[in-house]
Amino acid sequence: TFSDAEKAAIVSIWGKISGNVNALGAEALERLFLSFPQTKTYFSHFDLSHGSADLQRHGGKVLGALGEAAKHLDNLDAALDKISDLHAYNLRVDPGNFELLSHCILVVLASHFPSEFDATVHAAWDKFIHAVSGVLTSKYR
Ligand code: HEM
Repeated sequence: TFSDAEKAAIVSIWGKISGNVNALGAEALERLFLSFPQTKTYFSHFDLSHGSADLQRHGGKVLGALGEAAKHLDNLDAALDKISDLHAYNLRVDPGNFELLSHCILVVLASHFPSEFDATVHAAWDKFIHAVSGVLTSKYR
């Protein structure tokens, strides 16, 4: 569960991201693939070159899902149910990869919003993104 202060921090940063999900999401994916190249195996059907349409579109989907989650902080399980099934049963993404992507998303937020991303906001987003990852990896059990 999230405190009111955590909810406020999550929603306010989402407000900064929401108009720019494709570019910010593409950057997070690019950081993922450069820093942790083993994650590219899931995306062999994508054009992974810098700024590609595939990266933009998929980055937008990933951050868009976080935006949906940010609107349902009291009920993440239900809000993420469909993509949880997808990642566990269809895509079969190794759960360890969620830590890697989470890290890259936090780096993007910290670097684009340095004045907003103070220690409190960092902690709230860390908790949020790990909660989302927890839901997306829960069906493997
Ligand atoms: C697809 C979100 C983590 C691999 C998707 C989609 C969303 C999404 C919204 C599109 C679903 C649809 O088309 O209906 C997320 C979120 C994540 C996450 C919010 C964590 C914060 C990961 C990780 C990997 C991964 C860690 C692997 C390294 C994939 C793949 C697809 C996909 C391969 C299908 C891409 C395609 O063919 O279009 N994800 N994802 N996801 N995700 Fe994730």
